[in-house]
Amino acid sequence: MLQLTVRVIENVPLAERTWRIRLDAEPIARCIRPGQFLMLKVPGTTDPLLGRPFALYDIVGDAIDIVYLVVGKMTTLLASLRQGGILEVWGPLGNGFPDFGNREHVTLIAGGIGQTPFLAYARALLKAGTKRVALYYGIRTANLAAGVSDFEEAGVAVTLASDDGTLGEKGFVTDLVNRDRPSGPWIACGPEPMLHAVRRLASEQSVECFVSLETPMACGFGICFSCVTRVKTADGWDYKRTCIDGPVFNSLELLD
Ligand code: FES
Repeated sequence: MLQLTVRVIENVPLAERTWRIRLDAEPIARCIRPGQFLMLKVPGTTDPLLGRPFALYDIVGDAIDIVYLVVGKMTTLLASLRQGGILEVWGPLGNGFPDFGNREHVTLIAGGIGQTPFLAYARALLKAGTKRVALYYGIRTANLAAGVSDFEEAGVAVTLASDDGTLGEKGFVTDLVNRDRPSGPWIACGPEPMLHAVRRLASEQSVECFVSLETPMACGFGICFSCVTRVKTADGWDYKRTCIDGPVFNSLELLD
């Protein structure tokens, strides 16, 4: 794990309350894998005291991109940073996505801000020989759709859903997945109810399925136990730490 102080190259809005920050972080850009995450902290403040986890969105040369939704103090501070601003970063953290480059088709399923780990992954899959990468992406309303053109330009087949019908099809993204029954494996990231629905559909349709959990985290590297999730074991269940055993889990491993 690297611990760096990095400079902001740019910080631009992508959608309503959604920004993309580009960080000059060459040592991390060289070794981070899709599905891994970073802890970010704004220096010089104790409010918030702790860092927060953010998924890798993209690698651009020696820089890394992170896309985030402004939802509290940390992300409000993050959105106030401009070119030349400073951030403390530690990572890469977590296990990352499975290597599915030998598969014909991979389906990514995202809800809310859950599309953010998938752009770098889609690029890696297509580069490794996956013939078709599909993204099913659901948001509440059109103004919150962030990065759709990034995925399309990367060669991903994007299907959109919105709760109010202002973008794509009206309804939940899981309704579209249930209708289309896209080929697996499926990899999902988003709110808990969406992940439950995806896991249920995958089980019903016997599709291999992985989920990336958005569990709150305090340290990011295994010492605080703030991020535990329940997994099945041979004799019942146990806790695993999302930050080091995840954030990506086979859906069969998770307790319902
Ligand atoms: Fe501290 Fe996982 S975030 S143990």
